[in-house]
Amino acid sequence: MAIEIAPLPVPPTADAAKLKDFGREVKGVNPGSLSPEEFKEVHDLLYKYGALLFRDVVLSPEQQFALTKAFDPTSESYGHGNKKTEGEKKSILHPDLKTIPRVPQVQLIGNGMVYDHEGLAEAKLKHPSHTTFHKTRVSPEDEEKGFTRYYRWHIDAALYDLSPPKVTTLYGVTVPKGERQHVRYDDGTGEELDVPLGTTAFVDGRNMFGILPPELKSVAVRTKVKYAPHPYVWMAPAHALSTGLGIMSEGLEMSYDDLPPWEESKIKVLPMLWKNPVTGELHLQVHPCGVAELIIDPLPAGAKREGALYPDGVHLKDLKEVRELLYKMQRPAIAPSFVYPHDWHERDLVLFHNRGVLHTVVGAFKPDQVRAFHQCNLAASDDPKGPSEEDVKQWA
Ligand SMILES: [Fe+2]
Repeated sequence: MAIEIAPLPVPPTADAAKLKDFGREVKGVNPGSLSPEEFKEVHDLLYKYGALLFRDVVLSPEQQFALTKAFDPTSESYGHGNKKTEGEKKSILHPDLKTIPRVPQVQLIGNGMVYDHEGLAEAKLKHPSHTTFHKTRVSPEDEEKGFTRYYRWHIDAALYDLSPPKVTTLYGVTVPKGERQHVRYDDGTGEELDVPLGTTAFVDGRNMFGILPPELKSVAVRTKVKYAPHPYVWMAPAHALSTGLGIMSEGLEMSYDDLPPWEESKIKVLPMLWKNPVTGELHLQVHPCGVAELIIDPLPAGAKREGALYPDGVHLKDLKEVRELLYKMQRPAIAPSFVYPHDWHERDLVLFHNRGVLHTVVGAFKPDQVRAFHQCNLAASDDPKGPSEEDVKQWA
């Protein structure tokens, strides 16, 4: 049977035109045993559409690892590394990840108590909640009424030493059913989004770039992003914004001197725009929470200076200034009309282009709502490519 694709169901809150190239359901193939020809087709579809859904899939952790690895054959270890070091135990990610013993590249994530699962006798899973990460929270009374927030918009990446994974695979083993929830942005805009319980929300990095006004497109194409060393340890004492799109600037980040040992050469400095290896399009890809500095190149020779921001370039090191500029560039693309909230069913397998989309955990489960997902992504064999010289000429 030939591979067939169908659009993902876009919710009524979304602008269908903006999401028309985002996401496809793939039918007619078993993602656990793709032939080389089928894989090539799936590979290109993923880069074209950003996320692929396979329904009713039976997939072992071994098959999930093999499928994920096929996108980057020389990658080997989990996106955050396979071994837990002392330093990582201080990371804000530590409580969310449990490793499948047989296949350490695959993590068990979810909510509630899971027993006798793929070699784990017992695992206590906790769906991350905005209440432990954001500066402010939805009141318990409003939570009771179904109001919630995005947890943390991000790219799956260690952002120190290791290269950002190309692809993440998420497989829904146990998916509890429950009432829909309402995401509040709580940032003065009054924006809200109605979502299925426990959705994973996605936005397309192409839109994040594409909807910027020309002066910010020019900044984006000239900017490199410098992340903090051990960013998840660094940010652990700090609090996030109510949209989950970055950190409040309150000076609470850990001092670089107090971090686990780090080396300048392992700090990640990555372009703000990542070039899609199949379509050549530019995706605005920044993990806002981990950013420490922005390095903006001067305008290239011949570019129009009138109305340009930072025409002579600048190295922004003031965290508040860095975050404010970045927020101005990223916030428009998480408006409800740009968000695809996936409605999980058991045995759904979602593959997403981790270098082309941002995603977030959403909502809150009760302790008895048991959910088990398998997640796999692999530290990549190289760093993402930035804009070409032609791209800079076109957009600067
Ligand atoms: Fe993630």
